[in-house]
Amino acid sequence: MESIWMRREKLPNFQPLTSDKKTEAVVIGGGMAGILTAYLLKHRGVSVLLLEADRIGSGQTKNTTAKIALSHNLLYDKLIQKIGREAAGLYLGANWEAILKYEQIITEHNIACMFERVPSFLYSVSDREKIEKEVEAVNYLGCAGEFTTTTSLPFPVEGAIRYPAQAQFHPLLFLEGIARDIEIYEKTRVLRVEEHKVFTEAGPKVEADHVIFATHYPFVNRPGYYFMRMHQERSYAAAFSGAGRMDGMYLGTDTKWDYSFRNSGEYLILGGESHRTGENLTEASIRKLRDKAALWWPQCRTEAMWSAQDCMSPDQIPYIGRYSARRPYWYVATGFSKWGMSSSMVAAMLISDLIRKVPNPWEEVFSPQRGITLSTAKHMAVDGTKAAAGLIKQVFAVPDHVLENLTIGEGGIVEMQGQKVGVYKREDGKVFTVSVRCPHLGCQLEWNPQEKSWDCPCHGSRFSYKGKLIDNPAQNDIGGMQDDQ
Ligand SMILES: Cc1cc2nc3c(=O)[nH]c(=O)nc-3n(C[C@H](O)[C@H](O)[C@H](O)COP(=O)(O)OP(=O)(O)OC[C@H]3O[C@@H](n4cnc5c(N)ncnc54)[C@H](O)[C@@H]3O)c2cc1C
Ligand code: FES
Repeated sequence: MESIWMRREKLPNFQPLTSDKKTEAVVIGGGMAGILTAYLLKHRGVSVLLLEADRIGSGQTKNTTAKIALSHNLLYDKLIQKIGREAAGLYLGANWEAILKYEQIITEHNIACMFERVPSFLYSVSDREKIEKEVEAVNYLGCAGEFTTTTSLPFPVEGAIRYPAQAQFHPLLFLEGIARDIEIYEKTRVLRVEEHKVFTEAGPKVEADHVIFATHYPFVNRPGYYFMRMHQERSYAAAFSGAGRMDGMYLGTDTKWDYSFRNSGEYLILGGESHRTGENLTEASIRKLRDKAALWWPQCRTEAMWSAQDCMSPDQIPYIGRYSARRPYWYVATGFSKWGMSSSMVAAMLISDLIRKVPNPWEEVFSPQRGITLSTAKHMAVDGTKAAAGLIKQVFAVPDHVLENLTIGEGGIVEMQGQKVGVYKREDGKVFTVSVRCPHLGCQLEWNPQEKSWDCPCHGSRFSYKGKLIDNPAQNDIGGMQDDQ
């Protein structure tokens, strides 16, 4: 399950942090959001360093489909209804500025990252009216989207909206082009942050005037309460050779027909089959993508298959800005709702302005503090504390007869003396047992047969069958204790 980007690109390595540091700004997390934020801060005169738990680009960024577009699903009609024309226009304008900023950086540094301007299409196979409404909405916001039924898709559509001059690229080649310029420490996991002090797992700490959380899902639960305001959705992608050529990037807007298409060099990347993390109880998603490709392009060959997940905010607007009113010197970039390429650039531009006290008209639209009242905050505090209090470190013994009856390759939850235990029997017959209690806030993990992992339906943490942490917000392997504030 390695993405097409990983196949072609090995990013440069950086050393871990080995001594204490002082700096103006520290960025936690080396995905697209963190690297871009550190890059812009540096280029705007702020001294900055970046701490990455693993390798840069190794989180969701290596598994994106890397469309840089403002066509964020059928969003603008809804946005106009909910936040009004002016704020919706600011959202659209911010994402347009993001495309231009990518182009400017790529041109300035002459980065060969397969960046190209192409149109982006949102289509429907069943509902012409909703597409027409969206065209009207984006035109009302002054954007040149147009209605069409002519596409290069391998099936007919009821309608599509065509956004001209959007962009696509190779995300890791781009990161490589800008990362060398930044002070980066890899294999440096941050365990906790206290006011201006950032403590790493290996011991050294960083003291900074400004702390930026770009860890995909923020790992500090309180303050901020992001775990109450986001869930994660997983989807799948595959690259094929010998498949069709597209005249742009495409995304389906129907619940059961959400297929995404784009070309990258000689490959066609097909994506789709989204579901909430922790609810993938069958092995069907990847197979469905492969079946569709075989139907549409019988001669095609699978070159790579992979999956990824993203944080979904309730209003589909990312949380970019101050982490919490109680920590005005902490910042966050999350909730990208599967549009983290343009949103990461918006985050980098907005956060670097906030830090330099430069007024930015996008601040209110993306503010993480929007819609929080005193009573919801109190409710969140009680709920979060209850779940965390129930955490225990546990490794279970499972009786022989249970293990013998497991089929090779099978995993699932068994109940032993009132306790739930996660069990998986590997192809070589070895059995692995884990606690099924998520170390983030205590939800029960679900077995993911497709990816042989334990996934949390609450906020999307994932663990390997051996219990090793794959995706946050959890910060520990299964069975570990939550480091919380
Ligand atoms: C299938 C799929 C396709 C997508 N396609 C597109 C697309 O075409 N266009 C688009 O705009 N968006 C797309 N997205 C969304 C986009 O890929 C993501 O929003 C984006 O990559 C997120 O970047 P990030 O920097 O926030 O997170 P990540 O890339 O996950 O980076 C976070 C980093 O933080 C590090 N980290 C975590 N905890 C710690 C810690 N405690 N200490 C130090 N480091 C830490 C992690 O190791 C990781 O490297 C897609 C999403 C999915 C699921
Ligand atoms: S990810 Fe929050 S409880 Fe599991």
